[in-house]
Amino acid sequence: MLKGKHIIVGVTGGIAAYKTAILIRRLVDKGAEVRVVATEHAKQFITPLTLATLSKNPVMVEFFNPENGQWNSHVESGMWADAFVIAPATANTLAKMACGIADNLLLTTYLSAKCPVFVAPAMDLDMYAHPATQRNLKILEEDGVHIIEPESGFLASGLKGKGRMEEPEVIAERVCDYFASPFVSDDLFGKKVLITAGGTVEPIDAVRFISNYSSGKMGYAMARQYSRHGALVTIIRGAVDERLPGSIEGVREIAATSAEDMGHKVMEVAADCDIVVMAAAVADYTPSVVGRGKIKKSSEELILKLKQTRDIAASLGKVKKDGQLLVGFALESDNEEANAISKMERKNLDMVVLNSLNDKGACFACDTNKITIFFRDGSSKHFELKSKEQVAADIVKETVALLAKM
Ligand code: CTP
Repeated sequence: MLKGKHIIVGVTGGIAAYKTAILIRRLVDKGAEVRVVATEHAKQFITPLTLATLSKNPVMVEFFNPENGQWNSHVESGMWADAFVIAPATANTLAKMACGIADNLLLTTYLSAKCPVFVAPAMDLDMYAHPATQRNLKILEEDGVHIIEPESGFLASGLKGKGRMEEPEVIAERVCDYFASPFVSDDLFGKKVLITAGGTVEPIDAVRFISNYSSGKMGYAMARQYSRHGALVTIIRGAVDERLPGSIEGVREIAATSAEDMGHKVMEVAADCDIVVMAAAVADYTPSVVGRGKIKKSSEELILKLKQTRDIAASLGKVKKDGQLLVGFALESDNEEANAISKMERKNLDMVVLNSLNDKGACFACDTNKITIFFRDGSSKHFELKSKEQVAADIVKETVALLAKM
């Protein structure tokens, strides 16, 4: 995917620098030739020996090697690179980049670079949220820098919030996406694909709801892959990771709230679709009565009565037209295989993608996933742990093959 590409990885002084080692590994695995330029501070977080060993090139920190005078030409590096990825990018480096300050080799390389530049900020939540940092990121975005937004989670300070550097797999995937040809093939050209993504939100009263941890990442990854095959893609999404909506050009997005709302929207759009993928985590139960206003705290215990929601996939299975492909997901913790197959049959799906809760690295918010696909003819395919983007590509490939047989 990155075969023959020259990538400079810039490392600045933040605790997330330990993840840069994995990023370099991923880029090299994908076929890239990597050189590393680091700031003085970065050396306090990760050793040049680690970075040099993984990148198979000496790490550039100084403008010249004081021992032999060999010049590290930032101009030559800037010309050599097909992409410059700065990860982690501290608030300090982002600020200097935004102002055009050139007081270290990483910054002069940035100013000389003719290639696309990616930054993966990493810092404490308050530093990230500070108007100065946000202003600098906006300037950089206007200058054409690709910002790979940090995640929310636990930070080195012990606080929780947005500022954790995006995972190396995702950063590497973003770089791949940049170089990927917009089309893998046109084998789904003009075909209509509907994907549901994220978790539904079931209201309890005017201010409270029941939902789940689904992030929508798998659904969006599939939408991206289907677009690359030339399909006309619609996503009907419940609650998803805030970074996802609007992230795929040309994909129509429809927001849904509850299982009932999603059900109505899906039934309407699915009617003239060739492929429907039910990747959403649809609630099985919803409050029987939705409180008007805010339910007041009164007794020691509050019993919430729930009623079953409509099974959207099963409803689709009942009205499935000839030549229409219906794909479901099954998230299981016990009797995984038997449960997945029974779901496929019960809901009249053409294939079911099994996720096991017992597999490490396969979870709602993870960037990786491990799946097994079961087909109606009794066959199945196991896949190794991969990034969600690659998993999506595998699923899409299987649906393309199945559609061709229908
Ligand atoms: N699904 C749906 N409507 C529902 C519940 C699930 O369309 N009300 C879809 C999901 O999008 C998924 C498939 O059905 O594609 C299986 O969902 P899952 O939650 O694994 O199974 P359930 O049928 O809900 O059974 P259980 O929760 O008991 O495992």
